Amino acid sequence: MKNITVIGSGTMGNGIAHTFAQHGFNVAVVDISDNALSKALQTIANNLDRQVKKGTIDEQAKADTLSRISVFTDLNDGAKNADLVIEAATENEEIKLKLFKQLSEICGENAILASNTSSISITKIASVTKKPGNVIGMHFMNPVPVMKLVEVIRGYATTDEVTATIMELSRTLGKEPVEVNDYPGFVANRVLMPMINEAVYTLYEGVAGVQEIDTVMKLGMAHPMGPLQLADFIGLDVCLAILKVLHDGFGNPKYAPCPLLVNMITAGHLGAKTGSGFYKYTPGSKELIVADKFAG
Ligand SMILES: NC(=O)c1ccc[n+]([C@@H]2O[C@H](COP(=O)([O-])OP(=O)(O)OC[C@H]3O[C@@H](n4cnc5c(N)ncnc54)[C@H](O)[C@@H]3O)[C@@H](O)[C@H]2O)c1
Repeated sequence: MKNITVIGSGTMGNGIAHTFAQHGFNVAVVDISDNALSKALQTIANNLDRQVKKGTIDEQAKADTLSRISVFTDLNDGAKNADLVIEAATENEEIKLKLFKQLSEICGENAILASNTSSISITKIASVTKKPGNVIGMHFMNPVPVMKLVEVIRGYATTDEVTATIMELSRTLGKEPVEVNDYPGFVANRVLMPMINEAVYTLYEGVAGVQEIDTVMKLGMAHPMGPLQLADFIGLDVCLAILKVLHDGFGNPKYAPCPLLVNMITAGHLGAKTGSGFYKYTPGSKELIVADKFAG
């Protein structure tokens, strides 16, 4: 496997492209937005600079990594030579189904088509392709160059051979792959999102404040950050979308999103990316301020 195509150059796409290129693969990155592609290249260069400063790579490795990345706005041009496609476009079922239908026409019959989706069914995505056995979930964590886990999701039709190839490839990237089956939320989000939702309910019902809830989970459970801060970093809209997938998929009221979460999103407080969620974020500063609404 030499040629990797990454679809979508946002938060996850640029990290996935960075990781593969650093490990010697040729990477084509495809996005509908020229602006997103330029930003992704800049982000990758900045992150490589940080690695050079830390001494984990040298200037030559940085230059080699960047030289292996090319960018495209045309899906056909970017994907036609791919041995493996990793789709990391916006978390929207319609967008993903359309992309996989097109990829199934564009790519060679041996190409593996992977999705980095957080919650959309791999079996459903595979169902619109010509070879569902070649479709798999490759769920990287943010930030991709740093985080060790790859949740490898077998759809209903994914073959043993394709699963073994992706498990082995993940190890080549220095990651630890874990194989799971395709049910709503897989493992990572099925366990994480109810915890985040329960933390929001705990705040909503006035049991404790933002900092108190996060401190209990940080100091009591040795979590590196509290669930409310983590929700801010993931994006409250993304958390809601995943909770809805769990709620619809299992039909179990225990996954019903907390009304406070819904209200905050409606009011435009989506977390760190909008500057305000459970905490306030000052651009360029790492200081967290508890949002006024929840202070005390
Ligand atoms: N952000 C996270 O922490 C995280 C973690 C794990 C998995 N994921 C998953 O990764 C995927 C990407 O998430 P993200 O946070 O990087 O999103 P993002 O919004 O940062 O980036 C998405 C990119 O996809 C592009 N795009 C949209 N439609 C496209 C199309 N048809 N063709 C090509 N490009 C297209 C957009 O222009 C944008 O640049 C989602 O499925 C998400 O669920 C996200």
